[in-house]
Amino acid sequence: MSKVLLCNASELAAGEMKKVPNAEVGDICVYNLDGTFYATADLCTHATASLAEGDIDDDLITCPVHWGQFHIPSGKAVTFPCERHLRTYRVEVEGDEVYANLNAEAVEAADDANSPI
Ligand code: FES
Repeated sequence: MSKVLLCNASELAAGEMKKVPNAEVGDICVYNLDGTFYATADLCTHATASLAEGDIDDDLITCPVHWGQFHIPSGKAVTFPCERHLRTYRVEVEGDEVYANLNAEAVEAADDANSPI
């Protein structure tokens, strides 16, 4: 398993996100949605925008360039022009430290049958 530290939980308030550079997989965006942490690729699948510069709307991230949207827990593209899903990473919180497992998708994305979208 390839596990990387994304941030300290205490540095990311609910409703906030941040970009974390990673040499292996590229930039990762980590989100705090009401105390639950999620991680996706930071690069919008439509073009070259950083999603960390976009806006969180409930459990969606809105791209700052063309306003396409993704469902953060599953990475699914839900609003045009985004059509390709985002890579997600399973998040593990240990104490105050938030890690991404680079070899595992988020649980929701791994089980499409139970996905809300
Ligand atoms: S670059 Fe994100 S919607 Fe176009």
